[in-house]
Amino acid sequence: MIIEQINTLRKSKNAIILAHYYTLPDVQNIADFVGDSLALARQAAATDADIILFAGVNFMAETAKILSPKKKVLIPDVEAGCSLSDNCPIDELNLFLYKYSDHTVLSYINCSAEVKAVSDIIVTSGNALKIVNALPKNEKIVFLPDRNLGAYINKETGREMVLWNGACHVHDQLTADEVYRLKERYPNAKVLAHPECKATVLALADFIGSTAAMLQFAKSDIATEYIVATETGILHEMQKQNPKKQFYVVTNPETCACNECEYMKLNTLEKIYHALLTESPEIILEEQLIKKALNPIQKMLEYF
Ligand code: 13P
Ligand code: SF4
Repeated sequence: MIIEQINTLRKSKNAIILAHYYTLPDVQNIADFVGDSLALARQAAATDADIILFAGVNFMAETAKILSPKKKVLIPDVEAGCSLSDNCPIDELNLFLYKYSDHTVLSYINCSAEVKAVSDIIVTSGNALKIVNALPKNEKIVFLPDRNLGAYINKETGREMVLWNGACHVHDQLTADEVYRLKERYPNAKVLAHPECKATVLALADFIGSTAAMLQFAKSDIATEYIVATETGILHEMQKQNPKKQFYVVTNPETCACNECEYMKLNTLEKIYHALLTESPEIILEEQLIKKALNPIQKMLEYF
């Protein structure tokens, strides 16, 4: 019933529903496009819909608005934040950057529009290594806001980027001990990890990549069992694409015994319906902010 109502509104209002792989299965099922943050940004830039309904978190919807400023961008729940983005407030960042005025500011897309506006280039987990490798070897870089992704890029590229001390509360809580425990239980399983995980977890991974890259790996690889170190929402698409394979998600029993991003899970079918019906909550950003934040995002898209 609610799906029919969403479909009627989507059609009559020429709206597109974009969803991240971490959203609830029933939300992913009704989306026009499900992807990682890079693919979703590309979709938002390319769509000819009048309304973009973004089932994800705030920084993703803001990115969609920056890339498609003439379109109405809706988010089902304005409380859908992100611990990385929320822990890098612009005032604190400006003070921090004062010490590094001769550095290039490289920002992970998980940051606010204000932070994007003071950045030189935006990266996602899907293109960060490629972009850093394309920068001159002697370029001084500040990377923010994820210390785990930053440390991973430093290790892989041999750089010494200065890192902002932020982390994703979902990925940062996953431990190597838990991965070892699962490896003992499932000795034939390969380990897939998102680069927002700690270095100790990444050290045990057979493959490290964005949500889309992990999905691609699981689909094309010959193994039949995988230990997955990321948010649980990805299992929906993984299992759908690989019905004969087994996936075991890494959890942390000491903290919450789960690894769900509570922000992503705020997106429900009911809220999507209401957002489409009332055309709110809408992402509103000042024109000047959009202009400043667009520049570093466009640089990223040029590299991809
Ligand atoms: P992806 O870009 O890999 O989809 O990751 C987004 C994110 O928020 C991970 O926590
Ligand atoms: Fe942010 Fe972490 Fe949630 Fe991704 S999983 S949206 S990084 S809080």
